[in-house]
Amino acid sequence: MTFPIRIAVVSDLHIGVKSRGRDLCPQIEGFQQIEPEEGYLDTFEAFVKGIDPVDLLLVPGDITNTAHPAEVATASGVIERLQSIFSLKREQVLIIPGNHDMDWALWRTHNPPHPAYARAHRYESILDPDSLFSTAFTEGSRHLCKEPYFMIREVGSFLMVGLNSAAEDTPDKRPHHGQVTPETLQQLDEELEEYTSREHAARILVLHHHPVSYTDPVATLADFSQLQNADLLLGLLQKRRFDLIVHGHKHSPHFKIHINEVFHPLVVLCAGSFSYQLESSWQGRVLNQFHMIEIDDRNGNNSTIRGRVRSWSYRFLGGWEPSQSDSAGIDHVNRFGLHMHPDELLAELEPFISNAFESRNAIAWTELEEELPVMGFAPEATVKDALERLQVKLSFRLIGTSPDKILVKI
Ligand SMILES: [Fe+2]
Repeated sequence: MTFPIRIAVVSDLHIGVKSRGRDLCPQIEGFQQIEPEEGYLDTFEAFVKGIDPVDLLLVPGDITNTAHPAEVATASGVIERLQSIFSLKREQVLIIPGNHDMDWALWRTHNPPHPAYARAHRYESILDPDSLFSTAFTEGSRHLCKEPYFMIREVGSFLMVGLNSAAEDTPDKRPHHGQVTPETLQQLDEELEEYTSREHAARILVLHHHPVSYTDPVATLADFSQLQNADLLLGLLQKRRFDLIVHGHKHSPHFKIHINEVFHPLVVLCAGSFSYQLESSWQGRVLNQFHMIEIDDRNGNNSTIRGRVRSWSYRFLGGWEPSQSDSAGIDHVNRFGLHMHPDELLAELEPFISNAFESRNAIAWTELEEELPVMGFAPEATVKDALERLQVKLSFRLIGTSPDKILVKI
């Protein structure tokens, strides 16, 4: 097992008329984008050249906008290009379908509708034998578009499960919350048994829908839906010591650490969208996203992964830049791995801050991180809570923004 490891994530490309890049839409009659941007993938490729190499690429669904055959052909080429941009082999790219990757036009083919026919043929276009998806959605005898709608892939030191959470979705369901059936979960649990005793650098679930709920940034578009049977899925993942969940669906990005009464933490990344033309009402709150999950090591005491998610946002005419939560919906850095109550962190921080303020009036944030290495893995919410209490107790203010924050005595 070789640390550090890096995992790239692009979600919800929506290849077709709703994507923002001209190179992400079929260039044929019938596909008319609104003000597409030129060279979206070229800009992304230039940006990727400046970051560290990655070990995996995850694509958690809504690759196409409507699963039209022309979109599928374009999407197949785009995924191949992304694989090339990241210099990865095919097995290092895990792609799963979302609710937009089945052909919902089939539900309107018959009048009256013939749901059984539509269900039987809904994945035919994305599984075109000439497309990459005809093989990408398979692993051994398993196929993400056939029951039980999951596949298990072991690549190098990674254990990955791909789950098609959109399999039971239909056009008439609103909101499109997705689901996983208890029968599927039982089968998944049984099949994960043989992997339990093996060591993995990371155990990762990739699905499309939301296993946890989030605050919605725009009230007029509020959709608080959550995957049906999410609690059963989360329980199974904790039992099988999974580390990471990566998903897409709603286009607002989020980072969360899910801990239930078992106290095994699951790092959850809702990736937002890489290239969907976001609704104008979201402007100023959410941007298109690219993420890199960096895992430095495993904690020696409880073997949970330690590291951070780095996120970048695409800004029109500005290219890819570090995300800021107030304009992009997610911070540039979200740390994970330190699972400590804020009061315990406060107890660790207090002696150093108290001593330093006896001889000077300011402490640089970098000093704090050097003095207390655990800070490098402390979730932002834990640090914020501990510092808010310490500010009152030791009379100081926190000024500036990361990584140039300063603690100033008052
Ligand atoms: Fe989507």
